[in-house]
Amino acid sequence: MSETNRKKIYEGKAKILYKGPKPSTIIQYYKDDATAFNNKKRSTIDGKGALNNRISAFLMEKINSLGITTHFIKRLNMREQLVHYVDIIPVEVVVRNFAAGSICKRLNIKEGENLPKSIVEYYYKSDELGDPLVAEDHIIAFGWANLQELDELHNLSLRINDFLLGIFSSVGIKLVDFKLEFGRLNSADCTEIVLADELSPDNFRLWDNKTNKKLDKDRFRLDLGNTIDAYREVAERLGIL
Ligand code: TMP
Repeated sequence: MSETNRKKIYEGKAKILYKGPKPSTIIQYYKDDATAFNNKKRSTIDGKGALNNRISAFLMEKINSLGITTHFIKRLNMREQLVHYVDIIPVEVVVRNFAAGSICKRLNIKEGENLPKSIVEYYYKSDELGDPLVAEDHIIAFGWANLQELDELHNLSLRINDFLLGIFSSVGIKLVDFKLEFGRLNSADCTEIVLADELSPDNFRLWDNKTNKKLDKDRFRLDLGNTIDAYREVAERLGIL
């Protein structure tokens, strides 16, 4: 299928979704667009889409090989991946190992503090409401996921955290925190919860182990400069480039 004939299903802030070759597949296109603070800050970062496509494909493959199912099928080209069609659960799961970002303001914790344990938080996926922090009971009461699914989101997120902590630590990077999204993958006889969306410096906080230099989207959020160089450094350290 040529790119011009593709049917667009959805355009988000950093990606576009097109119909895939089968009804059960989707093509995920990574844009260079960057937004922060719920779309209030916007820009384009040349080369970001291609790097995020590579980094996300690499990490999704690793997680697949761990036995955790993801939506990822294969990388198609510089900017596109073929993924399974899933019904996205409207809950963003954030896992935090060190204090940074919103938890510092909310609970008056110093940035960089090692948290006593990895903390899992849930945010309701709603641009209109600015993705508010919610409790497990909100998720159950409003039917965004059932109790068993929520249990799975929690356990899978912590397993993924353990795995990613190891991967990044082996290349001298501290995994400060990250955001995950999950979806329901429907097959003839069952529905499975799988990891969806992307795994990239757009959704992770990554600091150099020794200097605490930020190697993620905070460079854009906080106007620190050299955002694309930081993303490239992450890819290089992971041995992708
Ligand atoms: P926060 O400290 O702003 O709550 O962000 C926690 C983590 O989640 C951080 O790694 C950035 C990521 N994140 C997203 O991927 N998308 C978002 O919309 C937000 C607010 C955070």
